Amino acid sequence: MNKHTFHKLSYGVYVITSWGDGGKPTGCTANSAMQVTSNPATVAVSINHDNYTNECIKKSQRFAINILGEQSDPFIIGNFGFKSGKDNDKFIQAPEVKDYLPIVKGSIAYITCKVIDTMETSTHTVFLGEVTGAEIINPNDSPMTYDYYHNVIKGKSPKNAPTFIED
Ligand SMILES: Cc1cc2nc3c(=O)[nH]c(=O)nc-3n(C[C@H](O)[C@H](O)[C@H](O)COP(=O)(O)O)c2cc1C
Repeated sequence: MNKHTFHKLSYGVYVITSWGDGGKPTGCTANSAMQVTSNPATVAVSINHDNYTNECIKKSQRFAINILGEQSDPFIIGNFGFKSGKDNDKFIQAPEVKDYLPIVKGSIAYITCKVIDTMETSTHTVFLGEVTGAEIINPNDSPMTYDYYHNVIKGKSPKNAPTFIED
């Protein structure tokens, strides 16, 4: 099997946010977000069991997909994607809260959800979310694709990303 084939699937770059212990806003960078159906609007995200965000979504039963744009600060991707919210405050300032969920400043749009089902794989939980809200924040920027992240920003994918390939 040529695992590089999976890099020919197209994705975006997102921050999946939720609430951590003591009501702390937290989240992780993810490429694995998709719309499942439009009515009722339903989306899915795939989050590694070892990610703090996974237990936060399980406890709060809510998550938001923060959509990053090509002009979004790459710091956001590193801040949310290469350290854990378990022992870090990823939100430097108190976030704006929309529909009970923390929103990442610098996103171009967001989708808020409540969990309606989960599916476990050996490494990741797929959370199915019914959409409770969705807004465009910056209509002038294009959504960042995973391809743009790899080939223009020259970003890497860590071990917990579903698309990770061991060297
Ligand atoms: C570009 C990129 C894509 C990622 N995609 C995912 C993903 O789809 N699912 C996932 O569980 N982790 C993904 N990750 C890894 C998590 O963001 C990373 O493990 C993070 O440190 C987890 O933080 P947490 O422990 O605070 O939840 C990705 C990271 C990057 C940089």
